[in-house]
Order: sequence, then C-alpha cells, then structure tokens
Amino acid sequence: MSTAQEAGREALVERFIEAFPDAAGHEDELVVTRAPGRVNLIGEHTDYNGGFVLPFAIDMDVRLVVRPRDGSGVRITRADTGESAAFELGPFPAPGSAWHDYIAGTAWALRQHDQPVGGFDGLLLSTLPIGSGLSSSAALEVVTAWALSAPRGPSVPPLEIARIAQFAENEHVGVMCGLMDQFASACGVAGHALLFDCRSTEWQAVPLPRDLSLVVIHSGVSHGHADNAYNDRRAACERVVAAAAAADPSVTLLLDIDMERLHACRGRISASDHDRAHHVITENERVLDAVEALRADDHASLGELMAESQASMRDLYDITCPEIDELVALTIEAPGVVGSRMTGGGFGGCTVSLVQ
Ligand code: GLA
Repeated sequence: MSTAQEAGREALVERFIEAFPDAAGHEDELVVTRAPGRVNLIGEHTDYNGGFVLPFAIDMDVRLVVRPRDGSGVRITRADTGESAAFELGPFPAPGSAWHDYIAGTAWALRQHDQPVGGFDGLLLSTLPIGSGLSSSAALEVVTAWALSAPRGPSVPPLEIARIAQFAENEHVGVMCGLMDQFASACGVAGHALLFDCRSTEWQAVPLPRDLSLVVIHSGVSHGHADNAYNDRRAACERVVAAAAAADPSVTLLLDIDMERLHACRGRISASDHDRAHHVITENERVLDAVEALRADDHASLGELMAESQASMRDLYDITCPEIDELVALTIEAPGVVGSRMTGGGFGGCTVSLVQ
C-alpha cells in the first residue's frame, strides 16, 4: 500500500484530530494514504485502444486520512481549502463534479467489487491543481480506493486498485477513460517512467537518463469541460474498429490494425475517423521507439518523436489548442530543450519537456 511518508503522517494525524476531535486517543485506527498525479511522456489516447503508454508519477499528490466508523455515514474535510461534506453510502450515488463526488463514486465502485466499505471520517489534502491534466481526479479515486480498502479487507494489489478507480471514472463520472492515469498513480516508481501495455496490463519501469530533467508547464488553459470531446474521440476509434471488424472479425481493438489495413477501410469510414485512427496507430509505435531512445540516451530521436507526437495530436487527433501549440513552439527554442509536447487528454492542461 502507498502509505504517506512518516514525516507527513504525523502532521496529517494532528490535522485529522483537529477536524475530528473524537479521534484523539484512537490514532492507531487511522489509515494514512497518498496517491500521486501523473504526466505522460508519450503515448496519448493509445490506452483505451489497447496500446502502449509511458507515464510517470509526479511529486504532487493527494493524501487521505481515514478513520472507519460504524454505519454508513461519511464526513470529510479538506485540509487545503477548509471545505467539508457529509453523505451516506448507499446505492449508486448521484454523479457530480465536486471533489466529494469522486470519493462517493469510488466508495460505490469498491462495493461493486465486493470490498466491504463502511462509513468513515476522512481528511483530504491535495497539492494537485484541478483541471491541469495532471490526473487530480485519478489520484483522488486511487487514494480513496487505497484508504477504504485497507481497514476492513485483505490488501488489494495496486493494479486492482487502479482498475477499481477506473471503474469509478467510467461508470460513475461517465468519462470513458483508459487505465493509464489510475495505473500510473497506483504503480509509480521513483526516477522511472512506466512502459504499460494496456492490452496485457504487463508493465516495466524504464529509468530516465541521468542527464535529462523533466519539465512540466501548465498552459493556464483548464481542460475541465473536455469530457464530451474525450468520449467523442473514443467513439471515433470504435467506429474504425467496427469497420475493420466487418472484414476481419478477429479485430477487437484499434491496435489490431496497422496503417495498411486502415487505408483499406478508407471507403467505409469518414476522413476525420481515418485521421483519428492514423494518430493512434503511429503514436503507439512512437512509444516503443521512445523507450529505445531513452535506453540509448538518444536525444535527437527523443526530440523528433515528441515533435511528431505533438504534430499528430494537433493535426490528426485535434486535441491541442492555440495556447498549448504556442507553448510547445516557445519551449523547443529554449537552450537545452531536447523535446516538448502536450501531455494528457488534451484541450489544454500541461506540456512535458525533456531538458538537459
Ligand atoms: C486522459 C485519460 C487517459 C488517457 C489520456 C490520453 O488522461 O484519463 O486514460 O486516455 O487522457 O492519453
């Protein structure tokens, strides 16, 4: 389990007792967990198509302290904003976009996965900016799944935690995301990116070259209202799968077809759907090429792959915005920058750059 570091733990326990004074003397009942945000180095919108991604966990995170209570009542306070919320655990909670809706949705998702979740008091502390594309919602879902599955049942493996958190996002929030964000938050390894095969769920940690640093810059554009556009992109990929499967029923995911077979579908799909699939197929190849380039510390190839990814997200998948394009253009002019691109679901958020 991802337990908050000891130094942080003491301060969090103290703040918990300030918020819930009846916990004094019951410190041993408190479960303290943390889940980090993530940045994806390359491999965008490949996850729900059964492809590869290369995310890494970052040092901004969400921390949650929980004390189980009898019954099904939940009381939560946010240490960073002072807000609080109370609700009852029950059948499907009404979806919403407030922070506590993600907690209610994840508690429901855990119960759907036979985890014996009961009432609790909770203290939440987040250093992740919301809507910045750093997966604050995935981190909130993962930290909730860690904290609520810990006290009453046997410990749940990290990949299963990620799946339950994704289930909450898909079925409760209604965003049909892949597994990348929740996976990176639950399985992150310090100093490494994670090469994740979203079809087999096998993964390996890839060390980042010592001479390179990662720089993440927020464009200032929140991606907050992009959920419909995200689901539209996924639907486009599914239409291409249906067209390819009509000729070959063994095709179940977009990454079952290559560029040649995509071209063969041309008459049966729209030009825009063709572009979307073109992005996904080539982006998937770029992930594997980037892993090779990282291992060889090959800066020129890394820079080219990031530039190709950026152009493909802009021109084929249509998920960048002028501010992001400008930020990337400015960044690659700066001395020491090896490569730069938008990271995450798109329509704003952050860029990621490799810098010497
Ligand atoms: C969002 C989703 C992920 C992934 C990325 C794009 O972050 O939550 O599952 O699809 O967009 O790569």
